[in-house]
Amino acid sequence: MNKIYVTRPLLPNFEAYISEINDIFVSQWLTNMGLKHNELEEKLKNELKAKNCSLFNNGTIALLTALKALDLPFGSEVITTPFTFAATPHCIVWNNCKPVFCDIEPDTMTIDVKKIEQLITPKTSAILGVHVYGFPCDVENIDKIAKKYKLKVIYDAAHAFSTEINGRGIGTFGDITMFSFHATKLFNTIEGGCLTYNDESLKRKIYNLRNFGIQSEEVVEDVGINGKMNEFQAAMGLENLKIYKEEQQKRAKVKAFYDENLSKIKGIKIPQMPKGVTNSYQYYPIIIEDDYPISRDELYVRFKKQNILTRKYFYPACHDYDCYKNDLAVKLADLSIVNDLKHKVLCLPYYGNLEDKTIDFICNFITKGGKNY
Ligand SMILES: Cc1ncc(COP(=O)(O)O)c(C=O)c1O
Repeated sequence: MNKIYVTRPLLPNFEAYISEINDIFVSQWLTNMGLKHNELEEKLKNELKAKNCSLFNNGTIALLTALKALDLPFGSEVITTPFTFAATPHCIVWNNCKPVFCDIEPDTMTIDVKKIEQLITPKTSAILGVHVYGFPCDVENIDKIAKKYKLKVIYDAAHAFSTEINGRGIGTFGDITMFSFHATKLFNTIEGGCLTYNDESLKRKIYNLRNFGIQSEEVVEDVGINGKMNEFQAAMGLENLKIYKEEQQKRAKVKAFYDENLSKIKGIKIPQMPKGVTNSYQYYPIIIEDDYPISRDELYVRFKKQNILTRKYFYPACHDYDCYKNDLAVKLADLSIVNDLKHKVLCLPYYGNLEDKTIDFICNFITKGGKNY
């Protein structure tokens, strides 16, 4: 079998993209908040049902800027999940704050709100939740805790493009939400990302921070960074915005096929979206329980031998990284659920053009306990 990747990037029609970038060659405006950039920013604001939207050159710089814009005190603690990509806790540290890892909830694999309060100290300044695989955090209860202790709330929605909770855009919860438009994400601008937020007064601050802190020709107001999305990225976004829903529909069919075949297998659990939540169709994670004939790691290896590249996403968890594991608080933390699930989750190949025969093969392979006969 030819190599089957866990995902394939969403690509617009080649001619459509060429026509889009033709404008850039005519205007000779390549970056710095050009026409494509501004058009995409406006369109995404509407698409995500957000009050404000600021584009970035990638999701990590966007998240870094979100934390900076909220002025978290030097050395303060940010409660977050270790079941995420490296960028989430790294952005906390780059802001001179300390990540405090909280355990996750077993069904949605997002930060466990029941365990947040016990981690709050006088030094806590914020909660950074991750809508992992597009499963939303318990936004309502996080909001209650944040109000009670006067904490900022930031969400990493890298996996949750277009997700809505009862018709409300996921990017409207908390103080600021980050979306990633990396090539592997459902909606991509090659590299890219954005911040959405309700507070209008953050707009100028974020605008400046994204552009070195430059306020005007002779005034540099903040210690900013270069977070600008260029015109070629924005052009990709404008085209992909037209086709991502079609990709979601195709992925919905792949999901239905997987669900139907895998849900019957003893030892395989398929996490499902809570009621009222729309699926972003970013990942297809399954949980390999203890009563499945082989371990997740063994299944991963057997798939690899068949040229099928699944992902042990997220193993290792962030608290296992060399840069975090020696911290005393990490050593003492109760992370029992994440320490269990990090050995059990496997993300299967998932993209619209995944062929029926490949899905069939994958389902049969799992049904037979990782055997190809
Ligand atoms: C959960 C999560 N947060 C942050 C990021 C970083 O986004 P980017 O790659 O756009 O910098 C990613 C993935 O790339 C991610 O999966």
